[in-house]
Amino acid sequence: MIDLTTEYLGLKLKSPLVVSSSPLTESTENIQRLEAAGASAVVLPSIFEEQLTLESNALDSDLSRGTESFAESLNYFPAYASYRQGQDSYLGHIRRAKSVAGIPILASLNGATSGGWVKFAKEIEQAGADALELNTYALPTDPHVTSAAIEDGIVELVRSVKQNTTIPIAVKLSPQFTSIPHLAAELDKVGTDAVVLFNRFYQPDFDIETLNVTPRLILSRPEELLLRLHWTAILYGDLKADIAVTGGVHSAEDVLKAIMAGGQVAMMASTLLIHGISQLDTIQSDLLRWMEEHEYQSIRQMRGSLSRRSVPDVSPFERGNYIKTLSSYTLRMPA
Ligand SMILES: Cc1cc2nc3c(=O)[nH]c(=O)nc-3n(C[C@H](O)[C@H](O)[C@H](O)COP(=O)(O)O)c2cc1C
Repeated sequence: MIDLTTEYLGLKLKSPLVVSSSPLTESTENIQRLEAAGASAVVLPSIFEEQLTLESNALDSDLSRGTESFAESLNYFPAYASYRQGQDSYLGHIRRAKSVAGIPILASLNGATSGGWVKFAKEIEQAGADALELNTYALPTDPHVTSAAIEDGIVELVRSVKQNTTIPIAVKLSPQFTSIPHLAAELDKVGTDAVVLFNRFYQPDFDIETLNVTPRLILSRPEELLLRLHWTAILYGDLKADIAVTGGVHSAEDVLKAIMAGGQVAMMASTLLIHGISQLDTIQSDLLRWMEEHEYQSIRQMRGSLSRRSVPDVSPFERGNYIKTLSSYTLRMPA
C-alpha cells in the first residue's frame, strides 16, 4: 500500500495534492467536489488588504459623515466591490467550508503592508480556518523605496500576523527578489510556518488599437514549474518552514518533481480550471501508478531527493548551469 500522506503546516494531509487559492474554492459545493476528487486541503480565494482597509475606512466615514463616502471610495476599487466578498461573507465562507469538508481549509489574506487590517487574521482564525496563507503581492513603483525596505516590510507584516494569531501561517512569495534565500531565512526567523513558491505576476496587456492598458489573466503552463523547482531545491533543508510549490503543476510528473525538489505539497489551480475538477483524480491515479512502477513506498521517501543537498553535482543550481545551458544550444536557423 503506497503512502501518499504528507505534513504541511503541522497538518497531516492524505496526499500532497492541494488546491490553491482561486475561484475553484469560492463555493462549498466545489470544495466538496474537490475533496471527493482527491484534494487533501484547499486554499480559499484571498481577501484583500484594500478591501479590508476600504471597509474599515467606509465604516469610519459613515459614522462621522454620512453614508455616501462608502459608495465613493468603492469607485476606486470597483472590481473588489463586485467580484470580492466582504469580511462577513468571507468569515461565513470559512465556517461553511469547515462544516461541509473533512479536509483542512486554508484562508488567504492578500496584502503588502502591515497595518490595522492584519487584525482580520484573528477573525479568520476564530472562524475556524486551519491555517492562513498570506499573499504578499507587492508591486513597487516608487524609485525611492529600496529592496531592503520592501523585504523588511514583508517580514514585519508576517511578524504582526504571527502576533495576532496562533494558527500556522504560510507566506506566498513573488519570485522577484534579489536574494530569495535571504528573505526566506528572515521569514523563518519570525516563525513563518511555510513559504509558498511562487506567486504569478500578472502583467497587463497593451491594446495598440484603442491605446488601453488592460488586465490579462493567462493560465499557467507547465514550463513555469522550473523556476519553482529551482528555488525549492535550493531552499530545501535550510529552513524550518515547509515549502509549498505553486505555479505550473499540471500533471503527476509535475507533482513528483515538486516533491523531489523538496516540497511538502504541490498546489494546483490552472490545470483544474482547464481540465475540470476530475483532473485531480487523474493526477492522483497517475501518481500512484508511477510510484508503484518505480517501487516507491511513500511520498516521504522521495522528498528532496533532487534538492541541492542531495544531488552529487550541484552545478545545475549555480552559475555553471547558466553557462552550460547557453553553450549547449545548437543553432538551427530556417534556410
Ligand atoms: C483565476 C485565478 C484567481 C486567483 N486568485 C488568487 C487569489 O485570490 N489569491 C492568491 O493568492 N492566488 C490566486 N491565484 C493564484 C493561484 O493560487 C496559483 O498560485 C497560481 O495560479 C499558480 O498556480 P497554477 O499554475 O496551478 O495556476 C489565482 C489564480 C487564478 C488562475
